[in-house]
Amino acid sequence: PAEAVPQAPEDPLFGLMRAYRADDSPDKVDLGIGAYRDDNAKPWVLPVVKKADEILRNDPNLNHEYLPIAGLASFTNKAGELLLGPSSPAFEEKRVSSTQTISGTGAVHLGALFLAKFYKVNGASRTVYLSNPTWANHNQIFTNVGLSITTYPYFDKKTKGLDIEGMKRALADAPERSIILLHACAHNPTGVDPTEEQWREIADVMAAKKHFPFFDCAYQGFASGDLDRDADAIRYFVEKGFELLIAQSFAKNFGLYGERAGCFHYVAPPSPQAAEITTRVASQLAILQRSEISNPPIYGARIASTVLNDKALFEEWKENLRTMSGRILTMRKALRTKLEELGTPGTWNHITDQIGMFSFTGLSETQVLRLREEFHVYMTKNGRISMAGLNTRNVEYFAKAVDKIVRE
Ligand code: LMR
Repeated sequence: PAEAVPQAPEDPLFGLMRAYRADDSPDKVDLGIGAYRDDNAKPWVLPVVKKADEILRNDPNLNHEYLPIAGLASFTNKAGELLLGPSSPAFEEKRVSSTQTISGTGAVHLGALFLAKFYKVNGASRTVYLSNPTWANHNQIFTNVGLSITTYPYFDKKTKGLDIEGMKRALADAPERSIILLHACAHNPTGVDPTEEQWREIADVMAAKKHFPFFDCAYQGFASGDLDRDADAIRYFVEKGFELLIAQSFAKNFGLYGERAGCFHYVAPPSPQAAEITTRVASQLAILQRSEISNPPIYGARIASTVLNDKALFEEWKENLRTMSGRILTMRKALRTKLEELGTPGTWNHITDQIGMFSFTGLSETQVLRLREEFHVYMTKNGRISMAGLNTRNVEYFAKAVDKIVRE
């Protein structure tokens, strides 16, 4: 009976967003949720998205019919090419199955559901290894479908960089055929990515233990400003012949947060049966999708598809991506410079070493709470800041607030 339902805690990130909105201080700074803001701290509708929107609105043949269960093919095909590269042999060999999802979260969920149902070794589900730390939602998405989770070391508190040795050791110690969740680029929450060489080492350990990679790719184009470079890790794993899953979000790189445009990809390892296996996997994914959401939402996929299928718009999108990643980079430099000018105790090189939407500042939970109470600065308890929340007007205010808190 419903009386037995206990009260659940509010989602920390959306709770933070609510608290920020309710704060009427003119000084307030929102460094919480990972959503791009322009230099005026306002959401930014990408100019290329406005153009695509215009094209769609002027299309007299547009209707609001259902999409197929697997989604809009002109969108999902291009989404796969964006990740693997259009000339990946995986396409030629028909070993990629792409399903449109409710953004990246829906893609992680569909993958989790698929693994819970079909990925068993000797009849038992495999544990999912998550980086410590990881995006908080990963924990509940996997546990909600009954999979058990554990962590592998990732962030080195001392260097504020990658604990590559700890990570490799944990992967080597994990039971064979474990599921390993990897952030394709712009790791959330730390902003710390493995180097090319480190990705190779990770792939070697995973191949030796026959682990199953599940990539979460929510920031392609945001890490380096280069769509191809940000997909390097995924492409390398595909080249090495792994069977793998990819969850892909277009929320951040298209600024389509509320449209929920995303995609889930299954890639089979090369083998004479690969195409047939992929067809079978796709048939099961269709059943899972049908029972969960029937078919995906159309509008965000149409916008992305319009851009991805038009050469000129695609180029313009890349330009828009460079605007976003470039502004974030400028803010990283500005924040580090200000803290160093102030002589704030500690080292701040990690602010510019880390990449993508977030920086993991190293501030403690107590310091984070003081920043919120005394300075109206909103960031997650783990010390993560969304770099896009900083701008030319508030970066100095934030640096001074950090300086004061760190010294006390
Ligand atoms: C974040 O981590 O801030 C974003 O990925 C938003 C979300 O859905 O949690």
